[in-house]
Amino acid sequence: MPRKKIALIGGGQIGGVLTQLIANKQLGDVVLYDIVEDLPQGKSLDIAEAARVDGFDVNIVGTNDYKDIEGADLTIITAGLPRKPGMSRDDLLVTNANIIKTVSENVKKYAPNSIVIVISNPLDAMVTLCQKVTGFPHHRVFGQAGVLDSSRFATFIAWELGVSVKDVNAMVLGGHGDTMVPIVRYSNVNGIPVMELLERKYKDKTKAKEIMDAMVNRTKMAGGEVVKLLKTGSAFYSPAASAVAMAKSILLDEKRVLPTCAYLNGEFGVKGYYVGVPAVLGANGVEKVVEFTLDKEEQVMFDNSVNAVTKLVADMERLGF
Ligand code: APR
Repeated sequence: MPRKKIALIGGGQIGGVLTQLIANKQLGDVVLYDIVEDLPQGKSLDIAEAARVDGFDVNIVGTNDYKDIEGADLTIITAGLPRKPGMSRDDLLVTNANIIKTVSENVKKYAPNSIVIVISNPLDAMVTLCQKVTGFPHHRVFGQAGVLDSSRFATFIAWELGVSVKDVNAMVLGGHGDTMVPIVRYSNVNGIPVMELLERKYKDKTKAKEIMDAMVNRTKMAGGEVVKLLKTGSAFYSPAASAVAMAKSILLDEKRVLPTCAYLNGEFGVKGYYVGVPAVLGANGVEKVVEFTLDKEEQVMFDNSVNAVTKLVADMERLGF
């Protein structure tokens, strides 16, 4: 079977780590595109020269020419500016919408059958725009946010309980902004509810709730926490790892259930918007949105998050995108 072709649009921090992870996992041949001359060529060469040491057999090409992405099976978009300290993701709207528009036109032209994962922020709006410009079916265009937000939540829970993060299941839904919705009720350690473990640890329900609230808040602000420390940009290792988990599920048709910024057509009571929900990811992209019943409190937070997404999309449309 010929190797899959993966186009990475944006050869910055996330694009570089994506290339390295995809090569090491041998998911397919990589074409790394960036607008900056020589940057993707340099990164590709550097990573390709690790092939002997790491033992991977994939081709890695850096380019400034969209023609080279021709026929890509999967495209991951990270083109655009990252945040600087003090900025919200929404502050990137105008700049990144202009970039995503051009990128999407070229993906449509050169990789018309591709599945597309968008990472650029503000995520929910950028996915919406990418689908609009490409005209690809919704199941082929979606965004990465929830895998990362959930991984952050799981990390904080694992640290708090002193257990392996591999045994922690935690899910974050909604938009990729400060209104995101960590689902506390279903977070568990190998099936044991995290709240029960916290209550046993602290022998005090109020204290356990305080600890959980702090972890939920840290999860919501986790991207900003990294931006504040890095000063020159935003997180890139964990976003790349998260997108690669999605890519792997698609390329190997694993059908994993991963939180995905997916288009909703009535699911969770939302119609016509991209929102973070659990979805089955397989060879056809988003193969199914997995619905479940939210409790009252979760529903209020989810509605609030959906409102933030609809407002962001309306702002973008008012700007002419
Ligand atoms: N076409 C292609 N690439 C572009 C374009 C464009 N029109 N404009 C900018 N780029 C490239 C930049 O040259 C840069 O190499 O996008 C790359 C972005 O890389 P970084 O600035 O390092 O940002 P990164 O950390 O990778 O984040 C990218 O993902 O998580 C989001 O908020 C983050 O929107 C940001 C995106």
